[in-house]
Amino acid sequence: PAAKTLKIRDVSKYPNQRVSISGWIHHSRTQKNLAFIELRDGTGFLQCVLAGDLVHPSIVTDLKREATITIVGTLTPPPENKSAQGGLELLADYWKLVGSSHADLEGILNTESNVDQLFDQRHIQLRGKKASSIMKLRSIALQAFRQHFYSEGYYEMNPPTMVNNFCEGSTELFSFDYFGQPAYLTQSSQLYLETMLPVMGDSFCIAQSYRAEKARTRRHLTEFTHLEVECPFITYDELLNRIEYMVCDVVERMLKIDKELFLSVNPNAKVPKRPFMRMNYSDAIVYCQKNGIKRIDENGQEVDFQHGDDIPEAQERKMNDQIGEPIFLCRFPAEMKAFYMARCPEDNTLTESTDLLMPGVGEIVGGSMRISNYDELIKAYKREELDPSNYYWFTDQRKYGTTPHGGYGLGVDRFLTWVLAEEHIRNVVSYPRYLNRCSP
Ligand code: 4AD
Ligand code: MG
Repeated sequence: PAAKTLKIRDVSKYPNQRVSISGWIHHSRTQKNLAFIELRDGTGFLQCVLAGDLVHPSIVTDLKREATITIVGTLTPPPENKSAQGGLELLADYWKLVGSSHADLEGILNTESNVDQLFDQRHIQLRGKKASSIMKLRSIALQAFRQHFYSEGYYEMNPPTMVNNFCEGSTELFSFDYFGQPAYLTQSSQLYLETMLPVMGDSFCIAQSYRAEKARTRRHLTEFTHLEVECPFITYDELLNRIEYMVCDVVERMLKIDKELFLSVNPNAKVPKRPFMRMNYSDAIVYCQKNGIKRIDENGQEVDFQHGDDIPEAQERKMNDQIGEPIFLCRFPAEMKAFYMARCPEDNTLTESTDLLMPGVGEIVGGSMRISNYDELIKAYKREELDPSNYYWFTDQRKYGTTPHGGYGLGVDRFLTWVLAEEHIRNVVSYPRYLNRCSP
């Protein structure tokens, strides 16, 4: 009978049937008259057994790692291999080579390769079991983010990423020549997203952001995927609630989409408990003072934090790891945060701002209520020594029908690092960009 063409994810529906499957040789092992092939087609892995003439010496050398082949055979419950996908393996009666694989592969990537060599061969490394699972979970996370926002009635916008203004300060900008004019790669799409509020209400975007950060840390990229959200007519409390609900709902949706794959990468994956701890910046200073978390001063001495000190990442992470649960750090002093942030009504020196910290990773979200008063925003520009006229399209929003509003940015790569419990952010990115790496 004609063999049905299948993807590996569907094999369990076709026991004892003759099927045709195409894929890459993930791994192969040949004995005298037998070859065991682990076939990979992007949807899963399948054990295939080739015997007799199918492994004739004249053709068996074609069965190299990463060669593409089509195998036709019968899906059979294996004698004892319970781990086979769908509990079935493919007993081949025919196979043909689709694309050969060069013998030099083993020399390119092996267990001795260092990190730089691995990332030079990222296109090959991505084919690995762990890396390919992470890439699929990244796709699933993006699907879950969109499901969340669409089901909550948000609209999605596509912002420009080549811009002539800046959002998060003038340092850390990548600049380039745009037909004779200076232009930058965007650090954040927030300002553009805010202009969409009168257009389509609750709005979000998923776009690349760029930061010329010289930091070589486990969680800094120079290009990252930025999920940004903006909501009109909300309060600061509602903003925090929305962030918290979004994070939990997205993890829940990811588990719903492919729990098995998710748990294969992070066996401890689970939806965090709500509500998240809310801790004011001033409480964090007291926490550090009481728990021996110190700041290094100009002379390299360890000293206690005082109100007004920036809490650097390392110390922030230490506090977060000690507490061991998600923390909303709230109400930062204004001089420490972006100029566009709204002040707290109860204390004008503080901002209605928040960073969401996750154990193991640290900050995954930064957000705030925005200054909604036109004059106040213009003053903020002047204090920042920025020319507001270049931002007329942004400030106009306060001129023609302003509203209290707030929003946030979530680093998708940081989110994945946290939710997959990965050690390093570069592992969750297909082709990561960081200090000294802009290839392949
Ligand atoms: O805290 P940030 O700088 O905030 C903004 O850009 C706001 N305009 C966002 C907004 O309110 N719409 O960045 C937001 C998040 C951070 O919490 C972090 O998760 C991620 O973006 N992020 C980075 N991720 C990887 N590498 C970097 N260099 C990152 N810089 C920021
Ligand atoms: Mg931040």
